[in-house]
Amino acid sequence: MCASPPSPDMAESSSELLARIRVHGAVPRHIAIIMDGNGRWARERHMPRAFGHRSGMKAVREVVEGALEAGVEWLSLFAFSQENWQRPETEVSALMSLLEEYIAREAAELAQQGVRVYVHGDLSRLTPAAANAVRRVMEQTVTGNRLGLNLFISYGGRAELVRATRQLAADVAAGRLTADAITEDEISARLYTAGCPDPDLLIRTSGEQRLSNFLLWQVAYAELFISSLYWPDFDRHALYGAISDFQRRDRRFGRVST
Ligand code: IPE
Ligand code: IPE
Ligand code: MG
Repeated sequence: MCASPPSPDMAESSSELLARIRVHGAVPRHIAIIMDGNGRWARERHMPRAFGHRSGMKAVREVVEGALEAGVEWLSLFAFSQENWQRPETEVSALMSLLEEYIAREAAELAQQGVRVYVHGDLSRLTPAAANAVRRVMEQTVTGNRLGLNLFISYGGRAELVRATRQLAADVAAGRLTADAITEDEISARLYTAGCPDPDLLIRTSGEQRLSNFLLWQVAYAELFISSLYWPDFDRHALYGAISDFQRRDRRFGRVST
């Protein structure tokens, strides 16, 4: 039996793939990623889950650099969900320490690369040290204008919609807005992602095919790309493969093809 030939994307080197993506032109402005599979990656190596999370930091660096090289404007990374607080205390504290370590190690370089970091979610639940690190990276990268990097931490899509709804209700109660003036734009303007275009492409690693409460409103018309790679194995080549796949999609937005 013959093995199936590798897909053209996988057979190409990263630089060939990048050159082809650039020639094609339509690079997604905003890519969102559900970074999944750290635990399974570690288990396959008979290592603790925290080892998988630590190894996932390299993949974060890869996709940030890949996004910069490809000319993506916004990158949104789901790092820790509201539901993830229900994991064992040891895993939660390992993840919070890694967040601090990531910021300590990468903030200066991110600033130098022109990346502006935003951190979104219920940050009141973070430890004081993690909350300080988050504030520091946002301040340190405030002048970045090449790539907006949204890190979603302690985030849930439904909670974000509840928060926006409360703001709308408060605005109506205070007479700043009428109920009839509530539009899709007014809702978008009260989300964490106010001012960012909606994601064009949503990637989830580890083969799982669900949203897990990520950016429920914003991904209405995102193209979905499920990668079978576990997050620590995801790299810029895999990112370019996803962008190349995106460039072959026919985005109809409910209309008929041109
Ligand atoms: C993603 O990897 C990281 C977080 C959700 C914080 P997981 O920890 O979910 O890894 P799996 O899905 O158990 O393999
Ligand atoms: C989603 O992954 C959250 C993040 C990637 C941060 P999970 O591993 O928590 O999602 P489920 O539990 O498989 O849906
Ligand atoms: Mg998971």
